[in-house]
Amino acid sequence: MSQPVAIVTGAARGIGLATTNLLLGEGWRVAMVDRDGDELSASAGALTDVLALPYDISDPEQVTRAVDETRAAFGRVDALVNNAGVADFGPIEETDFARWRRVMETNLDGTFLMSQAVTRDLARQGGAIVNIASISGLRASTLRVAYGTSKAAVIHLTKQQAAELGEHGIRVNCVCPGPVDTKLALAVHSPEIRAAYHDAIPLNRYGSEREIAEVIAFLCSTRASYVTGQVIAADGGFESTGVGLPALREAGPA
Ligand SMILES: NC(=O)c1ccc[n+]([C@@H]2O[C@H](COP(=O)([O-])OP(=O)(O)OC[C@H]3O[C@@H](n4cnc5c(N)ncnc54)[C@H](O)[C@@H]3O)[C@@H](O)[C@H]2O)c1
Repeated sequence: MSQPVAIVTGAARGIGLATTNLLLGEGWRVAMVDRDGDELSASAGALTDVLALPYDISDPEQVTRAVDETRAAFGRVDALVNNAGVADFGPIEETDFARWRRVMETNLDGTFLMSQAVTRDLARQGGAIVNIASISGLRASTLRVAYGTSKAAVIHLTKQQAAELGEHGIRVNCVCPGPVDTKLALAVHSPEIRAAYHDAIPLNRYGSEREIAEVIAFLCSTRASYVTGQVIAADGGFESTGVGLPALREAGPA
């Protein structure tokens, strides 16, 4: 069998780049899609078995070009990782329509467009889609009316896709990362938000890009061949926990 091929969006940096590196290490070839052409060239330049595709996933024509070029270069697609995402936090009254659309067009429209563009390729050998949502799509919070709503929609899109595409042998799952120190998080996590996350996370720390990539790579692989329609939080326990952690920490071990 020839080497499997993954398309990873938002692959120039952060969780997308960590996923690319992990998949390469497991013998995949990777088409790296990112609209930041400079950062993409710098990241892809250091790697082999990759194809750098400087495209914007919110634009249907660029999506078509990205998938066409992947087919031409690699001849197959076994997995799609819909990782590209935009975080823009603000109160509801300051979220004008332009800001709302900026978030939706990448996080939701781009995930829909990329998935649709590769369905035929994935169906050929029974491939996998992994959508990257967020804990902000599982639990509501302040300042995230656009971001949180877009990620909740990605979670439901995952289930819609799993229900329909299972017919073609395609598995579709969703990973919800907790906070990870990437450029995205550094731009929107104020000191107050950072402290609040520590207060709410049993493991009492941010995750690493690699820890999120491990879950994504598992879901892409045949090791997850009977897993579809699932939403997995890689979040240090945030989603499963209610109140009380700071009080417990203050009390110390019994
Ligand atoms: N970092 C976190 O704390 C965190 C938490 C939960 C979820 N996530 C999600 O994980 C994913 C990756 O996040 P990250 O922290 O690595 O982000 P990042 O900002 O470090 O990287 C995102 C990459 O996506 C690219 N991108 C954005 N919009 C694009 C578009 N329309 N077309 C093509 N490329 C585009 C950017 O250029 C960038 O290189 C995102 O979907 C994000 O919402 C991140």
